[in-house]
Amino acid sequence: MDQKNVWIGTNWKMNKGPAEAIAAARALATFRPPEGIRCFLTPPATSLRDVCSVLEGSPMMVGAQNMFWEDSGAWTGEISGPMVVECGASTVLLGHSERRQHFGETDWTVNLKVHAALRHGLRPLICIGDTLDEFEAGVSQETLARQTKIALHGVSPEDLERVVVIYEPVWAIGSAGRPAEAPFVSGIHTELRSVVREIAGESGVRIPLLYGGSVSQANICDYVVLPDVDGVLAGRGGWDPADFMKLVACVSELVSAKVDA
Ligand code: PGA
Repeated sequence: MDQKNVWIGTNWKMNKGPAEAIAAARALATFRPPEGIRCFLTPPATSLRDVCSVLEGSPMMVGAQNMFWEDSGAWTGEISGPMVVECGASTVLLGHSERRQHFGETDWTVNLKVHAALRHGLRPLICIGDTLDEFEAGVSQETLARQTKIALHGVSPEDLERVVVIYEPVWAIGSAGRPAEAPFVSGIHTELRSVVREIAGESGVRIPLLYGGSVSQANICDYVVLPDVDGVLAGRGGWDPADFMKLVACVSELVSAKVDA
């Protein structure tokens, strides 16, 4: 970890309808993360507008979990960038492995969505990840490089400054997953850093690279101290507002030590 911001987010997935989401957002509304920590959460689409209203003016960034690349039209069941913006969100998660696995997202549809998000002023939080088969075959780096290069294909140098890339091994996500070991994540992120530098040139050093997959209070610091890890995305570990604030507390000491240094 260096003096860059540390990002800590939680993806609520298909949890918390409006009533529960409003209650959770209220619990976070007065929370002020320490300097150097940037927090975000992604509620389900049906709770997005309420959560954005409750958290208006708070440092907590709110994002959608997905969006379509067209702005409007005959796309039953989809939500568009302008709709996400109108709800008050500033960011959007794209290419989460659950969407790739269960809803047919491909590297190229993720790329279309990245462009659409940027066009509407949303910050894309781009998820990439290797499956267990790819991990066991030793091709994680190749998979991640391909996913990253395609997701960012055609993105202008100025827009590259607004993207965040999140490495989430598919085998590490959810209650059946096991958290990736920090030395492995370190190697992956070093390589990812060279991939984004290849794409973005020197400004690639400023693209935040996050880790996600069974992040908890017990392991968050192991990841955040790694040189090319700029933060984490938690699922279960951050759903409860009290737990989310504890995740932030776990790293705040590390961050303040760095800021004071
Ligand atoms: P998990 O989910 O922390 O519950 O493993 C992470 C994610 O899918 O973003």
